[in-house]
Amino acid sequence: MMQLITGYWLSQAVGAAAHLGIADALAAGPRTSEELGQTIGVQPQAVFRLLRLLTSLGVFRQDEHDSFALNPLGETLLSETPGSVRDFAITETAPGHWLPWGRLSDSVRTGKPMARETLGAELFDWYAQNPEEAGFFTAAMGNLSALAAGELVRVYDFTNVEKVIDVGGAHGILLGAVLKANPNASGIIFDLPHVIGTAENVIDPAVRDRYELVSGDFFESVPPGADLHILKQIVHDWDEERASLLLRNCHDALRPGGTLLLIEMIVPGDNRPDLAQAMDLNMLVILGGRERTEEEYRSILAASGFRLERVIATHSPFSVIEALRV
Ligand SMILES: C[S@@+](CC[C@H](N)C(=O)[O-])C[C@H]1O[C@@H](n2cnc3c(N)ncnc32)[C@H](O)[C@@H]1O
Repeated sequence: MMQLITGYWLSQAVGAAAHLGIADALAAGPRTSEELGQTIGVQPQAVFRLLRLLTSLGVFRQDEHDSFALNPLGETLLSETPGSVRDFAITETAPGHWLPWGRLSDSVRTGKPMARETLGAELFDWYAQNPEEAGFFTAAMGNLSALAAGELVRVYDFTNVEKVIDVGGAHGILLGAVLKANPNASGIIFDLPHVIGTAENVIDPAVRDRYELVSGDFFESVPPGADLHILKQIVHDWDEERASLLLRNCHDALRPGGTLLLIEMIVPGDNRPDLAQAMDLNMLVILGGRERTEEEYRSILAASGFRLERVIATHSPFSVIEALRV
């Protein structure tokens, strides 16, 4: 119970190491806390105490007295490395997520998210007003999408797809993987204006001539013309009413017989340990959304004019839910 109660101390310690760029500062080799003080502007005694804790958890190692180096776990906090979760660590411990989580009991009491109460605006409006943290959030989504992208193109055949839209696609990590898997396909990244405004050239330049950047609001409409829609961690952001509205807008935009792929965590029917149950509370407290069981996806898809065809598990926390436009 003490570990459960104090778990957020560890989240914040990892978040602080990520935010301060400690892994990047150790990339070239071991450093003392005094040296870190000079290179990244931290107080030597305080960074020693932070690194001592994280060393005890296996993130770093202490080679000699007060000289710290990266362990494989710490390497995931490097900014430029395959499998990096640095931006995710920063995002989950920064105000946009952290402040609503401080009011979880109020969310449970009311069933409502706590963004407006703690940030003064709904989460995506708040990000639009806070570009620095929005940048970390979008990059954090990229961290998770990078984990999912290789698996998506491994388990799903995109050979016959002509035009793909990544709805709420952020910086298009998934779209980039799909376009690379099918050299004949083209695509659209569709997201809010503040996200599209910073999306230029973030996915592989090799596919830049095959995708468009389009900004808009998926609660109003989704650009038409694609034969396949990908929505990764979009439906989970919203309650039934909002999720159904955006799925109906996909239905209106999609060619008859077109395909909808939802990339989501699925709450296990037997409640075995999974990231989905905790992500579900994250959705409740920051946005009023939810993670869903397979049956819940089947039912929300049917109510929006789609037939769930199959659910494909991947070697990532995400499943691919394939649905056809009825
Ligand atoms: C949880 S993130 C997922 C991003 C991306 N699909 C991924 O997994 O990397 C949700 C995305 O939906 C976008 N979004 C939120 N509200 C939107 C709206 N009304 N219209 C279009 N995009 C929206 C956000 O800007 C954000 O990029």
